[in-house]
Amino acid sequence: MIIAKNGLKLIRHEEPDPNISEILHDPTILENLSEARSYTAPMPANICFRIEKDNKVIGQICLKSIKWINHKAGISLFISKKHQAQGHGLQTLRAIIEYAFKRLNLYRLEAEVIDGNAPSLKLLEKTGFTEEGRLREAKYVNGEYKDLLRFGLLRKEYSG
Ligand SMILES: CC(C)(COP(=O)(O)OP(=O)(O)OC[C@H]1O[C@@H](n2cnc3c(N)ncnc32)[C@H](O)[C@@H]1OP(=O)(O)O)[C@@H](O)C(=O)NCCC(=O)NCCS
Repeated sequence: MIIAKNGLKLIRHEEPDPNISEILHDPTILENLSEARSYTAPMPANICFRIEKDNKVIGQICLKSIKWINHKAGISLFISKKHQAQGHGLQTLRAIIEYAFKRLNLYRLEAEVIDGNAPSLKLLEKTGFTEEGRLREAKYVNGEYKDLLRFGLLRKEYSG
């Protein structure tokens, strides 16, 4: 317990707590919280694919923090050093965008890139992402604070 004052208490608990679930049935409360509170069964928050080339694993691409009601997800991608700059990044990014919009019926995809990451910026530009914001000095890399750029792509903007 971290507060016990004037009859008000803050008591740490594990989820789900039946007393809390009762309050959460009120839609005016629920609509202001993370949509995950509305799921009646667990839904995957992340879907990841291993990328193979000639039966060797060369990277991974994921849909992350998937919000099933808001129809959105983040994308993360990496390709091993010796397989970079051969078009695999672009090809897999296009494939996961198609999968997200057409198979999973997502509507919005998001990506976050460290300012100066030229290949990533190129990939996002080529697939039609729009830069939506800059988080100043939000990433600490090798003793330096770098800006993080936020990108978004809506299904209606994607032309394939
Ligand atoms: C970003 C990454 C996934 C790109 O994958 P890739 O397979 O190398 O990319 P592609 O070969 O499909 O290249 C995409 C474009 O970027 C360009 N590119 C590749 N490396 C580049 C570099 N070092 N500098 C500038 N442009 C570069 C390519 O020329 C290509 O553009 P083009 O088609 O006009 O020639 C890969 O570099 C990587 O895994 N980096 C480390 C992890 C990372 O940064 N992940 C992204 C976080 S959002």
